[in-house]
Order: sequence, then C-alpha cells, then structure tokens
Amino acid sequence: MTKTLAIAVYPGDGIGPEVIAEALKVLDRVQALEGSFQLALTMLPWGVDYWKQHGRVVPDNFLDVLRPCDAILLGAVGWPALIPDSETLAPLVTIRQSFDQYACVRPARLLPGLASVLAGKQPGDIDFVVIRENSEGEYVDNGGRLRRGTPDEVAVQTALHTRRGIERILRYGFDLARRRRHTLTMATKSNAQRHAYGLWDEVLEQLAPEYPDVASDRQHCDALLMNLVRWPERFDVIVASNLFGDLLTDLGGVLSGGLGLAPSTNTNPELRFPSMFEPVHGSAPDIAGQGIANPIAAILSASMMLDHLNLPSAAERIRTAVETALAEGARTRDLGGTLRTSEMGDAIVRCLDSAGK
Ligand code: NAI
Ligand code: MG
Repeated sequence: MTKTLAIAVYPGDGIGPEVIAEALKVLDRVQALEGSFQLALTMLPWGVDYWKQHGRVVPDNFLDVLRPCDAILLGAVGWPALIPDSETLAPLVTIRQSFDQYACVRPARLLPGLASVLAGKQPGDIDFVVIRENSEGEYVDNGGRLRRGTPDEVAVQTALHTRRGIERILRYGFDLARRRRHTLTMATKSNAQRHAYGLWDEVLEQLAPEYPDVASDRQHCDALLMNLVRWPERFDVIVASNLFGDLLTDLGGVLSGGLGLAPSTNTNPELRFPSMFEPVHGSAPDIAGQGIANPIAAILSASMMLDHLNLPSAAERIRTAVETALAEGARTRDLGGTLRTSEMGDAIVRCLDSAGK
C-alpha cells in the first residue's frame, strides 16, 4: 500500500527556492522509483515576497498550517538588506520551540572524491554527527542589562540546563551511536562551569551503564575542537549543549566540504510534532538569482527527512546518488566546478535513474 506523507515546503528567500527546487526534483524521482510512498506537498510562499504584500514574513496562523504536516522542508530565510534578520528568522525559532525540535542533527562526512581541508585526511576519516541540544542551554533568552550606556553598565545572561533536557538529548545520542559506530563523545566544560556542565557530566555517568554497547566519554569543548581537527577519525556521535553544538557544527561543516554540502535537522524524536529539515547555509544574497548555488545541502536534508519518515531505502538512494555524482566529478562553483544549480540536480537525478529500481 502506498502511504501518503504531508510535507510543508518553505523555500524562503535568496537561494532557498533555487536549492529547494532541486531537492523536490530529486524527491519526485525517488518517489517514482520506490513506489511505496507519496509526498503531498504544500508549498508555502512565505518570506520576503510575502512580507512585501502583507507586511510580515509568515501569516499569523503559520504554526497551525505546519502542525498537521508530517515534516517541514525549509530552504533558507533572510534578506538583510530589506528586512532585519531578527524578523525573518523569528518564525524559525518559534517553529523549533513550539514543535519541541530539541535535537539538531548535523552529520559531518567527507564524501568520496572531495579534498579535505585537513592535510592527509581521506573520506572515511571524517564521518561524525554532531547532535546539538536545540531547546535550552546558553541560548534561552534569559537576562537583562542595567545602567545602559553608562560606564557602570551591567549585562547578565544566564544559561538554563535541565536534567530532563540533558537526559533526552543524551539518550538520542546513545540511540544514534547504536546505529553507527557505537561511540559517543559529550562536550563539557565542567572544569570552568561546574554547575551547568557538572550536571551534564552527572547525567552522562548515570546513563552510560544503560548503553554498555556504546563507548562514551566526555571532553572539554576546547580540547574537543582541537581533537576534531587532529583526529577526526576518532569521533562518531558528539552530543553538545546549544552553544557548544553551534561551534562544533561550524567546524563539522568546513571539515566535511563546506556549506554547499551540509544538511541539518531540527528533530522532535517523539514525533509529537513535525520536524524540520534544512541546509545549514543561509539565503546567500551574494549569489541569489544567479543559478549557481550548490543544491546538495538541501538534497541531503531531504534525504534526512525521508529517514525520519521511516523511508530508509529512499533516503539511502539519495545519499548514494549524491556520492556517485560527486565521484563522477559533478561540481558546482563552490566545489571548484562549473555546474549550475539545476545541472547538479539533473546529475543527481541521472545517478538515481542509473542505480535503478
Ligand atoms: P550564508 O550561509 O547565506 O552564506 C555564506 C557564504 O556561503 C556566502 O558567500 C554564500 O554565497 C555561500 N553559500 C551558502 N550556501 C551556499 C550554497 N548552497 N552554494 C554555494 N555557496 C553557498 O550566510 P550569510 O551570508 O551569513 O547569511 C545570509 C542570510 O541568510 C542572512 O539573512 C542570515 O541571517 C540568513 N541565514 C539563514 C539561515 C536559515 O534560514 N536557517 C541560516 C543561516 C543564515
Ligand atoms: Mg552557527
């Protein structure tokens, strides 16, 4: 029986619509090849154009529109020359929080055929996943400023870490490690921040015995960043707080070939709400409208969406097709080539086709 899945597509601004068009092309083909599922797409014309007509980037009821969907596929939002980022990006923050998308999952994998920025490292040496706690920690909006503008000005910003929040993100990491290479590293900084990361350390210690098949340890985040550059091959699953995850995922992005390739999720693992899948990159106004953006980050995000929707063979087809296209030399400009956005999409579709039924 064919199952139908409702997908909200929010292409957004700048190169968002350009890369999403290619992701949809690939999804359409994979759906035809698999024959076991159907994606019912709802295209959402939100963003800068919507703002020009309505004075806001999304309608007031945008969460109600998204809630019944099985997943959200996002391109990128933002056009700072026209609208402050605080306004264009605000709906994304609301989506992540309202739909309790507490696990931000960002794989960092150097694909075959691509050169690493690290001397001597091959594809296979760089294959780790950073799971960033996406709902609390250092990024809760908690603080204030006193005596503004005076020499005695004071700023206070307090992080918030909960046992529940730490436990659920670590369990997510352990479960993922079980499906990978059975190794989990937690980022900490309990040497200098003993309250917050002391709690992280304790929760890790309490959970580890429940996962005897996963080798787990913790590293101070500064050392972890250094070790990722020296020995990326030692890392499999990395779990980090919101701030540390932010730092680690930028490093992961560059180690795995750059923004044009890096996919991301904002996951609600319990499936109580739709999760959101998006490339790590933004709307890239500097190259928007030229048809030269690399669509692979968006295409791999669509593949992660299919995995989340329990369509692993469809997800795998896409990953394999991307790898084959790159191995055959397909390159957009950011990778040193000359392919246009749509030509890269076409190359990946051809690889899907030749891998066949
Ligand atoms: P950006 O990621 O849009 O671009 C950074 C640099 O990488 C640019 O030179 C761009 O041309 C290049 N680049 C990005 N994606 C690429 C791709 N697929 N192919 C080839 N080159 C690519 O970051 P930037 O310039 O800091 O931000 C631009 C706008 O995007 C801002 O409004 C920002 O707030 C927004 N943004 C939105 C995000 C989202 O929608 N989740 C995430 C990050 C930024
Ligand atoms: Mg960042």
